[in-house]
Order: sequence, then C-alpha cells, then structure tokens
Amino acid sequence: MIINWMKKELEALNHASLERRLRTHVPIPESPGYMMHGGRVLLDLSSNDYLGLAQHPAIIEAMRDALLIEGAGAGASRLVTGNRRPYGQLEKALAEWQNCDAALVFANGYIANVGVISALAGRGDVVFSDQFNHASIVDGIILSRAEHARYRHNDIEHLRALLHKFRDKRRKLIVTDAIFSMDGDQARLLDLIELKREYNALLMVDEAHSGGVYGLHGEGLALALGLKNDVDIHMGTLSKSFGVYGAYVCGNETLIRWLMNKARPLIYSTALPPSLIAGTTQALELIQTEHWRRERLFTASEFFRSSLCMAGFNVGNGDSPIVPLIIGNNHKALQFSSALETEGIAAIAIRPPTVPDGTARIRFSLSAAHSLEELTDAVTKIRRIGLRLGVLESCDQS
Ligand SMILES: Cc1ncc(COP(=O)(O)O)c(C=O)c1O
Repeated sequence: MIINWMKKELEALNHASLERRLRTHVPIPESPGYMMHGGRVLLDLSSNDYLGLAQHPAIIEAMRDALLIEGAGAGASRLVTGNRRPYGQLEKALAEWQNCDAALVFANGYIANVGVISALAGRGDVVFSDQFNHASIVDGIILSRAEHARYRHNDIEHLRALLHKFRDKRRKLIVTDAIFSMDGDQARLLDLIELKREYNALLMVDEAHSGGVYGLHGEGLALALGLKNDVDIHMGTLSKSFGVYGAYVCGNETLIRWLMNKARPLIYSTALPPSLIAGTTQALELIQTEHWRRERLFTASEFFRSSLCMAGFNVGNGDSPIVPLIIGNNHKALQFSSALETEGIAAIAIRPPTVPDGTARIRFSLSAAHSLEELTDAVTKIRRIGLRLGVLESCDQS
C-alpha cells in the first residue's frame, strides 16, 4: 500500500533526527521579538521579522482599511480582474524605492523565483546558481528545463570555468542570493558583475534577506553597493523585513512586460488579497523613513555574533542579521534547540537537506525588536547549553 512506503521513509527520517513537524507559535502584539509556544513566552530568535514590523499598528490599520473597501479576496488573477488599486500604488512605490523603471508583485518569494527563472530561461539555455542559493531558485531552474550549472559557494573561479564551458549556450542567467539565507554571508556581487559582462549573461539577485536591511533607505545590498545598473533582475520578498507577505521583482520596462506575459505563476494564479498589498505599501513607507530600525538591527546583530564568537562558537563568516551556530550533528542540533526552548528562547534547528550534511545548525535571526539586555541574557544561556552539550569543545574555530 502507498502509505507503507511513506511510513517506512518517515521512520527513517525520524531515526536520523531529520523529520520535520509543525509547531504553533502565537504572537504577542505588545511585545514584538517574543512569541508564545506551549503556553510559555519565548524570545523569538528565529523569525525573519528583521525590522520588527510584523505587528506594526500602522500596517495593520492600512490592511484593515483596505479590507473594508476591497473585500477579502482579489477574486481572480491580476490579468483577469484581480488587479485592484493597491497593486498599482505598491508597484509605483517599489519602483521608486529601487530606482527602476517598473516593479511587479508576486505571491511570495518562492513563487517569484520559480516564475522569473522559468520565464527567462528554457531548453538550450543555462542558469548558473550558487550551491547555497535558496531552494526556490533551484526549483525555478528545474522547472525552466535549462541546464543547471551549480557553482561552489562564492567560488568565482568555479563559476568562471562553468561560464566558459557553457559559453555557446543560447541564453545565460546567473542567479544568486544577496545574503545567503542559512549562513548570513554576502554574495560576491562585484565579481559576479565582472563575469556577467565578460560572458554576456544576465544577473538576477535575490534580496530576500537584504531588502529593507541594507542601504540608507533599506533598498538592499546591490543598491547599497552602487550596483543598481549592473543587476538586471532585482528580486526581494515582502515577508521578511516588510513583515507582511509577497515578493517583488524590479527592473526595466521590457523585463516587467516580459514577466507579465511569461511568468506562469503570475498569469495562472489568483492575485494576493488587496488588503495585504495595502499593508505592504505602508510597510515600505516605514522601511524608508524609520532608519533607527536598521541601526538597532545592526547593533543587535554585531553584538550577538561577536558575543557568540568570543564564547567560542562557530558562527560562520557572515556580517548580516542571520547568525548561524554551526553544530554539525543533526541530533545534537535538535537537542540544542530544545534546550534553548527550555531556557525561554525560540531558535529552530536547521538540518539537511536545507544545509549540507554534517552542518546542522541553529539559525538565529536578529530583529530591531531585540534589546542588548535580552541578547546578553540569551548569550549566557546559549553558552551554558553549548558547554553542557559539548558543542563548544567540538567547534571548528578556524
Ligand atoms: C533567499 C530566499 N529567497 C526566497 C525565499 C522565499 O521567500 P518567501 O518566504 O516569500 O516565499 C526565501 C525564504 O526563506 C529565501 O531565503
């Protein structure tokens, strides 16, 4: 019976400490940075609410106002009758923020990557993708049926060799996360731009973890580095620093027209509820004006990363609000996460296949909602757990 093989494989996953289960977390609106789980209040060190906007009253009010005008759902895809007024307002604001000709909203980041990559590449083409890119980029490449040229993480010489090998392919697309989601380190955008020019490729940058976070007005890593004109496709999510839901793609007029005609998830799926879009426009306003959120976020991130590093943990090479505590063993990573929960901290264990075998970790993500006092207390607890579980001794400090 079909169920038997599933049961067997699930048992194997469970045995290897690799089974995933859903957990319910309850937000505490008056205390951003905390959540409830199992009747207990936990410091939230796992959400991607970088700027602490997910509970912002102005965003909720904008959503409520639009809900009363536009109703619950959009009723159809945008190309049919789902393209309500809030969409145009948000896309205009996104294009101005990104200093691009035009923007297009997608249902979420996963869908945006799948839709954009499969619209830009097909049989006979090649997509070059960093080994640590997000799963949605990988799935977009698979769906596109283009050749998948996977280069070692941030290894520019390996990418160069692959570009050379596939130099005669029809179209070439290089895709990278700007900030890698499980390691928190940056892509080598300057080197990628040099190579894309040399080999006449397009460059797509996924700013899921950098949009709202980097740049004076949160415009993302590429713009913050002055590389706007060298990146052909700017993609980002509206679910992390924006605190809402959805995704955007920004670029020139032709690109956006192309995607409107060719990105199948946009064409063949109902538009997001307009109230959500209205809330996102309000979030963008806050992202651009409330600079103190980014300052607090980076103060918190730097403090947390350096405290864990000084304690002797392996926290990788990043400098973003994503701080991995690399443990290695899957079972130990689960034990660590559950010990953190006992100490009042929600921080989830990330295991293969999300990260390579032997690199299971706790992925901490910081927020403007966290204070240094809370983080100091968290570091003390993390250190105690690290010593108890023998993680500190086994850390690679190189
Ligand atoms: C780099 C990257 N791209 C895309 C996504 C997908 O975004 P969303 O959660 O909006 O679907 C994520 C989500 O974790 C991500 O980390």
